[in-house]
Amino acid sequence: MNYQKILTSPIKIGTRKSKNRFLTQAMECCDADKDGNPSELTYQRYANLFKGGAGMITLEAISVTHESRSRDDQLMILPANAKPLETFVKKLKSINPDPLFIFQLTHSGELSSPTFSRRVTVNPLYGYGGDLLSEDDMEKIMNEFVLAAKIAHDAGADGVDLKLCHGYLGSQILRPYNSRKWKYGGSWENRSRFAYELTDRIIRAVNDKNFLVGSKISAWEGFPGGFGTAGPDSPVIDLKEPIALLKGLEERGASFFVETAGSPSITVSLTQAERQHPYIAYLHPTFQKAFKDAVKPETVIIGSNYSVWGKGNKGLQACDPKENTLLKVGARNIENGIVDMIGLGRQSLADPLLPLKVREGREEEIHFCTLCDNCLELLIRQQKIGCCTYNKYYTNILVSIRKEKGRLNQNHT
Ligand SMILES: Cc1cc2nc3c(=O)[nH]c(=O)nc-3n(C[C@H](O)[C@H](O)[C@H](O)COP(=O)(O)O)c2cc1C
Repeated sequence: MNYQKILTSPIKIGTRKSKNRFLTQAMECCDADKDGNPSELTYQRYANLFKGGAGMITLEAISVTHESRSRDDQLMILPANAKPLETFVKKLKSINPDPLFIFQLTHSGELSSPTFSRRVTVNPLYGYGGDLLSEDDMEKIMNEFVLAAKIAHDAGADGVDLKLCHGYLGSQILRPYNSRKWKYGGSWENRSRFAYELTDRIIRAVNDKNFLVGSKISAWEGFPGGFGTAGPDSPVIDLKEPIALLKGLEERGASFFVETAGSPSITVSLTQAERQHPYIAYLHPTFQKAFKDAVKPETVIIGSNYSVWGKGNKGLQACDPKENTLLKVGARNIENGIVDMIGLGRQSLADPLLPLKVREGREEEIHFCTLCDNCLELLIRQQKIGCCTYNKYYTNILVSIRKEKGRLNQNHT
């Protein structure tokens, strides 16, 4: 298998083309300025990613309202942010015009911070809660998403990823747990209404066939009543609804889907396999293949949880590390029709230049993610985020926050 050739081959997404098979995952890094605009630090991070040249780069979860933020320094996409976002995109595209730049639009719902935002819920989950959303609230939220998509389009983004994963509002509505009797709860028809109408409305409002619309979807959230389970109290994996969702969104014009799993505040290792339990990554190809088999051949499926393979992860027993590196596993999954592209999350923080190094045959120079998960610790602690292993700036932030507040209780939750 010529893995370099596979990973550097182009692929069509809707009317557009990704130059290679790498997607830079959305990675919230909490470094926006006080108005929710990209700061110099945000720009530096993305400038490196544009130099690295993944075929598709996702702008981290950007909040569609001020009151739906889970991070204090989260990026926002309101009319006041339009101009700064336009300048940001222009500067990045002047570094490298090739990557498709996708904005991940989000509303945190039950994960909005009650400290600096407004916690709202479709049906209070034990330990979370918030103000119960009304149908009028939902209409307002949809309008905010549509406006955000138009701002993204006018700022020069190539598309949007409507976030339907990881326990944020988009996935809260889809869950069987959302059994409340209202327009957006109970039956599948009601629970899928938000995702379907939103996709329809955005495509109509933006009215540009070259503007991509897709979603990142948690195939199985991994707790009773989460998305991808058999019922409001059931933890049993049942992919009927996730598959129905893909087909419904595809019919409405979505051209790509990013597979993921879990809801990190509840089932973090499912979302990002950890050093202690790397084998959880073995679950993901099953979800990726189920996604791939459900959609039309031209709809692009992108897989998650590839950082865990690194240079050949010796913790992954029963796999020859030489034959099971991130690059080889990724290429093999593409060759075997499990996915079309591979998404890099923590690995993109460790080495934003990976795609360029692969293209130039400089693999020896790649800094592979060590799964230390210090980036996750910084996220939980609402600090500026980057790779603490390879970038001293972030190591220093980690050291000083630990000095000030002590070490984080393990388990990350
Ligand atoms: C610091 C950090 C920030 C993240 N931010 C986002 C985000 O904004 N949106 C999202 O969909 N996933 C987010 N994730 C999840 C990643 O995009 C990705 O799905 C996950 O880390 C698994 O991929 P990996 O094994 O390559 O890291 C984040 C993860 C981390 C560790």
